[in-house]
Amino acid sequence: MAFLWERFIADPRGDGTVPPVELIYDTWNPGDWESRFVAWNKWRKDRSIEGREFDHYRELYLRIHGAMRQASLCGIERGLGRKNIFEYWFFGQEHMPESCTGSDIYDVEINHPPLLPDRDVYISPHCKTQGNITFTFDYWAQVVHKLIDAGVTVTVGYDGFFCEDLYRHPLYRKHWGDHRAWMEEVCRHRIVACGNTGTGWLAAACGVPLLTMEPPNSQMPDHRYRECGLRNIVEVMDVPDADYCAKRLIEEVRRVNVMTAGCYDVLHAGHVRHLERSRSLGTRLVVALNSDESVRRLKGPTRPVNSQSQRKVVLEALRCVDEVRVFDGDDAIPLLKEIRPSVLTNGHGYTYDKVVGRELVEGWGGRVVITCQGDGKDEPSTTKIVTRVLRSGDIIEACRVGSAYSVNPFDKLKLAAEEFVKVESLNGDVADLGAYRGGVSLILRRLGPGKHLHLFDTWSGTPFDDELCHHKKGEWPADLGECKLLVGQDERTHYYEGVFPYSAEELRDEHKWFCFVYVDMDTYQSTRDAIKFFWPRLVQGGKLFFDDYRWEPCAGVKKAVLEAFSEGQIKVYDNLYTCVVTKL
Ligand SMILES: C[S@@+](CC[C@H](N)C(=O)[O-])C[C@H]1O[C@@H](n2cnc3c(N)ncnc32)[C@H](O)[C@@H]1O
Repeated sequence: MAFLWERFIADPRGDGTVPPVELIYDTWNPGDWESRFVAWNKWRKDRSIEGREFDHYRELYLRIHGAMRQASLCGIERGLGRKNIFEYWFFGQEHMPESCTGSDIYDVEINHPPLLPDRDVYISPHCKTQGNITFTFDYWAQVVHKLIDAGVTVTVGYDGFFCEDLYRHPLYRKHWGDHRAWMEEVCRHRIVACGNTGTGWLAAACGVPLLTMEPPNSQMPDHRYRECGLRNIVEVMDVPDADYCAKRLIEEVRRVNVMTAGCYDVLHAGHVRHLERSRSLGTRLVVALNSDESVRRLKGPTRPVNSQSQRKVVLEALRCVDEVRVFDGDDAIPLLKEIRPSVLTNGHGYTYDKVVGRELVEGWGGRVVITCQGDGKDEPSTTKIVTRVLRSGDIIEACRVGSAYSVNPFDKLKLAAEEFVKVESLNGDVADLGAYRGGVSLILRRLGPGKHLHLFDTWSGTPFDDELCHHKKGEWPADLGECKLLVGQDERTHYYEGVFPYSAEELRDEHKWFCFVYVDMDTYQSTRDAIKFFWPRLVQGGKLFFDDYRWEPCAGVKKAVLEAFSEGQIKVYDNLYTCVVTKL
């Protein structure tokens, strides 16, 4: 809640032209009530206190340090101690009803039961005494009737004398109480509607939403409200339009604020689903957005990807978001206290007891909702998107280099790389059958540096003729030494020179598992042998990638694959003459 005093202390004129006010403790004690009023009036007239000039802000400010002093006695509630709110209100009056003067607030026992709003609108016209004659009692009576007709509970200050016909109505209540009762009465309402009154100031100080009425020609313009920049000023009306006033009050009364907090760095479908569900739980959704600094603290120096102003603009463009507020702390508790939502929501990865601020929201009668159950493992996330984007850069770069050493086109290599990246996190090694000059192996090596990579080839060319294959024995010779130079010779890179599957003998009893096998050996027999050897050694979720499937001059590949797998198991990439079989 933006309380008057916070604003005044930080920025006295509200335009950044005056440095924060110095803190002066109020040692001055004017004594009894009578003396206080005398002093107060003198201050108003002189515009100075003990030789110091002051304006409205300082007036208020001098009330506030009282709050500092008394906080320990009264507790700090809704910004100011109640006693101070009251004291502030009391001194803020231009007009003090007789019945109030002379009473001593210091005799009032201050209790702190939770003040949950249980009534709707508090009406405080005060039009005549404040010179606010545009908003007449007749106007207020119309507003009250419209509210009652709409089923809204109304409490009318000034003893409600202008709505006599409603005295017995169950939704109606009149009020004219002592000081403490007045303050507490205001606090138990969802909104205060007033015309330039002390009740308005009381509501303002307590953080109760306020619709205030002040004509342009007001004899005592209450510009103070506007100068304060209070967040709880719903609107300042200057035309006595009872229909409009009642409509606005009803809107506010029926408002159910929902709040959620987050970084919303790269907006994705998971975010939108959460925000839409959050909004559906109320009539207004406020998103507390982590500032750039707080995102950095949470997620590291490379984040956020988008600045807070960009992120705010994107969120504000969503139909389900009504307001976006940036916060800088480690959590959004201060904002939560200010907005006091009826519903606080969290999305994936949260459990009810982990929601920050849950006790607070439930304390004022609100509820906590997890909009999307589960840990979000399979949900989109900014982190996953960023990783994927960075990864796609790696893929492009690896394929660009690899394609210089491969007979295969860039697009096919990219497909193989993307398929590999999908299973990279699984257990198991990687194999390249028909490694040739090492182009594919290089890509796999770069994208999976932690994996054991097994390269197979004769390096003297195709080992035999195959009637289904147009490549003949001895075609595709390559230099093993150059291949090793290209792909590397570390302890994770293994070369098997010779005719497969005989060259794989040493692996046969090793109980090795594989997550990705690239098969590009052209012939029926070699492809069939590859399936026979690797399929039982493939981890669940692992993939066999078959080059030349659908490539007519190498028809044996398709034959071998179709003999081993049903069509439903085979994912075909027609334009690349390729297929992938995943072990489910
Ligand atoms: C079309 S080339 C591979 C091209 C390579 N994948 C690339 O992207 O540049 C086919 C390779 O498979 C090898 N090959 C075919 N059958 C084989 C077998 N049974 N054992 C070992 N190597 C074989 C050949 O020596 C040849 O180098």
